[in-house]
Amino acid sequence: MKDKLVIAMVGLPARGKSTMACKIARTLEFDEVKVRIFNNGVLRRELSKGNTSAPEFFSPENKDGVASREEFARINLENARKYLENEGEVAIIDAGNVTRERRKRIEKTFQAIPIFYIECVNVDEEANEAYLERKALLKEFKHLSPSEAFDSFFKRISYYESIYEPLHDERNHILVDSFEGCILQVNILDRVPYYDRIRDIITTRIVKNLYLVRHGETYYNQEDRIGGDSDLTEKGLAQARALAEYFSNVRIPIIFTSNHKRTLQTAAPIAEKQEDCSIIALTEFNEIHAGICEGMTYQEIREQMPEVAGARNRNKYGYVYPQGEGYVSMEKRIHRGLQKVFYLNNYSENIMVVGHRAVNRMILSDFVFRQKQEVPYIYMPQNRYYHLQIDPHKKHFELKPY
Ligand code: F6P
Repeated sequence: MKDKLVIAMVGLPARGKSTMACKIARTLEFDEVKVRIFNNGVLRRELSKGNTSAPEFFSPENKDGVASREEFARINLENARKYLENEGEVAIIDAGNVTRERRKRIEKTFQAIPIFYIECVNVDEEANEAYLERKALLKEFKHLSPSEAFDSFFKRISYYESIYEPLHDERNHILVDSFEGCILQVNILDRVPYYDRIRDIITTRIVKNLYLVRHGETYYNQEDRIGGDSDLTEKGLAQARALAEYFSNVRIPIIFTSNHKRTLQTAAPIAEKQEDCSIIALTEFNEIHAGICEGMTYQEIREQMPEVAGARNRNKYGYVYPQGEGYVSMEKRIHRGLQKVFYLNNYSENIMVVGHRAVNRMILSDFVFRQKQEVPYIYMPQNRYYHLQIDPHKKHFELKPY
């Protein structure tokens, strides 16, 4: 008989628990482990009659709310118990599990099966805020304005904070920084089946499908001008429509863009063709800032600032535009943008990034090793996109027409 395991997620709302649960489940499935996620929130939305998204529902003072949530937790555990009793090998209890009481309930339900707690934290305030903004876009908050939804979710978190009891008596637990994708603490007293595998999954980047698209043609592109915040041309708009059509049968829940008009204008028709798709603009994905050369053509730079053109030619990766950026100085922000993407996007979902020439080169090189001096020359056309897939068994990337 194969080993059985209960993984219980622990953490405040919006700390990346579900994303982590999904990443673990999806990857264990590759190894043909029978794994299933049991999510309290999903069950609550399925079984509740009215809308239970209001913060008061989560108040520890609200007796009815507490009773309903306890009942959902009980049903969820019962479902997980049945699953493990039958074909299941790993059950992931995806819920806050923030009180000792709740965790004792898990321990009582699974007396003969090891329980492994994964506590998720994220100390990056900006990422937390982005996550809340993302949550505010969810269906259950559709009746509220984005800022009301944000406040409502914030209030919900504070209720959970007020009853949070840190892990202490639990025999097997780890503390994970879900934004950084690293393990901060390990407390393991028993043999935890699949532990080595789970540890690798937590710290490795896994990508189901990443569609890396460059924005459509702009007026600046037509004139060979760099930087700026130009609009798409007719041809660029047609490219965006073609992309929308091409991806209309592929589910894309979020499109990540920069803050520049050209990426937003490219993403808009794609999002429109999807059933429920949000656009999230990240400044981390703004195009390389060319400093004093912003708005110039390459020809003008060669003629008016030959020292800039020459120095960049000699070391394109390491060259930083005066008062601007270089590939080398974009490294950190691009990496951070990608961390946000993975924090905000569920692992079972496809990801689309609509970026820029230099940005997309950097994104690609963050996944696929390239000699640094080659990165600024990676082919990044406007009529094709890169398709990336990374799992523990393969790393695949391909340039495809649309
Ligand atoms: O020309 C479009 C553009 O995105 C510019 O805004 C940017 O400066 C440039 O491409 C980056 O490409 P390269 O590093 O090859 O100049």
